[in-house]
Amino acid sequence: MSGGINVAILGATGAVGQELLALLESRNFPLKNLKLLASPRSAGSKIPFCGQELTVEAVSDESFAGIDIVLASAGGSTSKKYAAAAVSAGAVVIDNSSAFRMDEDVPLIVPEINPEAIAEHQGIIANPNCTTILMGVAIYPLHQVQPIKRIVVSTYQSASGAGARAMAEVETQAQDILNGETPKPEVLPYPLAFNLFPHNSPLGSNGYCQEEMKMVNETRKIFADPQLRVTATCVRVPVLRAHSEAINLEFDQPFPIEKAQELMKGAEGVKLVEDWEQNYFPMPIDATGEDDVLVGRIRQDISHANGLELWLCGDQIRKGAALNAVQIAELLLEKDLLKVTEVTAAI
Ligand code: A2P
Repeated sequence: MSGGINVAILGATGAVGQELLALLESRNFPLKNLKLLASPRSAGSKIPFCGQELTVEAVSDESFAGIDIVLASAGGSTSKKYAAAAVSAGAVVIDNSSAFRMDEDVPLIVPEINPEAIAEHQGIIANPNCTTILMGVAIYPLHQVQPIKRIVVSTYQSASGAGARAMAEVETQAQDILNGETPKPEVLPYPLAFNLFPHNSPLGSNGYCQEEMKMVNETRKIFADPQLRVTATCVRVPVLRAHSEAINLEFDQPFPIEKAQELMKGAEGVKLVEDWEQNYFPMPIDATGEDDVLVGRIRQDISHANGLELWLCGDQIRKGAALNAVQIAELLLEKDLLKVTEVTAAI
C-alpha cells in the first residue's frame, strides 16, 4: 500500500467485511492505508491483507481521522452511531446497512443502474439491500427497453444474509440433525437446516416484513419510479451463500423472449445461464463467488400476454453487498467525488 486512498472497513471481521478485504486486494483498489474496525470483541485480532497482517481496532468516534472512505458493514445501529463522526472527519461513508437508504439526501446506488445519482451525495452513500441489488441488475436492462409496470418477486435467501454466524449455525444444525440431535437455533429464530421459513424481519401493519418492503421501496428509489408496482415474498432457505429469486414482470405489451435473452447477454453484471435441453439453469452453488448475477428460465407468462418470467441467482455477499460497495467506491474516484462540500444536518 502506498499512494492512494485511505480506507476503513467497519465490520471487517464479518462475512461482508471479509469479502470487502478480498475485493480491495483482487481489484487493485488504489489504497494508501487500510484500517480494520470492528467491535471491542475483535480488537487486536490479525487479518491477512496483501501479504501483511493488519490489526483490527475497536471502532470509536476517533477512528476516522484521515480516512477518505468508510466501507461500513456492521449493522444499522453501528452505522447510525458512527456515520456522523466519519463524515465530520471528512470521510465518505458507503453504508451497507438499511440505516440511511430511504433518506432523501442519501443516494442509493447500483452502479449498473443509477451511477449518476452518486453526484448528489452529502457524505453518505447507501448500498441497497442484497435482494434488491440482484433483482435490479437483472431487470433494469429490460426496463430501459420497455418500462416494467409491475414486479412480483419471490426470494430464496441464503443464511449468508444473516451474517457469518448464521452460516456457521446452519452447518452445525445440519450436523446435529444427521447425528439425531435436536438443532438449536441461536442467531436465526428457527432451525434452518432441512427447513425454510418466511423472512424473519419485523412485520408491518400491511402484513409485509421489512425485507419485502425494502424490495418495494428501494427498487422504486433506484429506478427513480415512485409509482412502480412491486410485491415481494421473502423466504430464508437452507443455502449457505447466494440468494435466488423468481421474478414475474408485467409490461404494457408482450416482451419477446429472444429480445430479453439478447439483453441479458449484453448486460453489465449479468450472465445468461440457460441450457433448456439439459434443464440446467442458475443455482446458488454456481453463483457463489461470482461477480455476475446469473439469469435464466426466461419465459412467457402463460397467464398474462404482457408477462415475462425469469429466475436468478446471485452471490449475496459479493454483488449483493461487498462488490456493489467497492464499485461505488470506484465510481466515487472515477467521478472525483471524494471531497465533501456540504455536511447534511440529518445525521
Ligand atoms: P465483531 O466480529 O467484533 O463482532 P456479520 O454480519 O458477518 O455477523 O458481521 C458483523 C460485523 O459487524 C462484524 O465485523 C462485527 O464485529 C461488527 N460489529 C457488530 N456489532 C458491532 C459494534 N457494536 N461495533 C462495531 N462493530 C460491530
